[in-house]
Amino acid sequence: MPRKPLWIGTSWKMNKGPVAARDAAAQIASIVVPETVTPFVIPPFTSLETVSESLGKTSWHVGAQNMHWEDEGAWTGEISPQMIRECGADMVELGHSERREHFGESDRTVNLKVKSAIRHGLRPLICIGDSADEYAYGVTHETLARQMKIALHGLTSDQIGTVLLAYEPVWAIGAKGKAAEPHFVGVAHTRLRRVLCELIGEENALRIPILYGGSVSLDNAAQYTALRDVDGVFIGRSAWDPSGLAAIMQSVAS
Ligand code: PGA
Repeated sequence: MPRKPLWIGTSWKMNKGPVAARDAAAQIASIVVPETVTPFVIPPFTSLETVSESLGKTSWHVGAQNMHWEDEGAWTGEISPQMIRECGADMVELGHSERREHFGESDRTVNLKVKSAIRHGLRPLICIGDSADEYAYGVTHETLARQMKIALHGLTSDQIGTVLLAYEPVWAIGAKGKAAEPHFVGVAHTRLRRVLCELIGEENALRIPILYGGSVSLDNAAQYTALRDVDGVFIGRSAWDPSGLAAIMQSVAS
């Protein structure tokens, strides 16, 4: 048996509109989730309500992939925290590297969004990660500490206690990514936990799940979750098919 509860989930990114999402959610609802796993799925906005309704009576958490920090107003093309709540979601992914790289997401806007999400009762899943250059220069830890500290700036220890963090090296994400060595991930997570201890004390820091993401697959998931400071995995491609997600859950739980 694994020694800790594990958060295991996937973001569908820009895949699965309402029709495909309904089918996928029905398959997800039939997955036998291991007792030690807290499962989540993060569909695109247009499928959020469908998926939330399909999984309403299950243990699955459902999240959005982004949101605006304001409650309402003249923000064409944006989605507010209330809208996400109204669709039945209880979490929101913030600061994914694809948002940072292609849509101008900054540490500052991630911080605004984290505060707003918490105010609206949405659990933020905050993504942080080093670029290939930062990794090559050996400043991974500095980058992660900076991104995390700014994301959490201005929050109380209690509020910080509601967040989930995901370390996702930018160089490990996607089809062109290279899966990170488990040892490297273990060190990065332990150092992140240490920074959290400085911010909110050890007892609180130990309660915050730090997930790992970036080319997680059936072949490597259990190696990551075996690491002391890895509290789950955040999966892309390998979990878009619900059977892939189910297989990864079984692999880490057995
Ligand atoms: P990947 O995506 O598993 O397809 O590399 C991970 C992510 O972007 O969270």
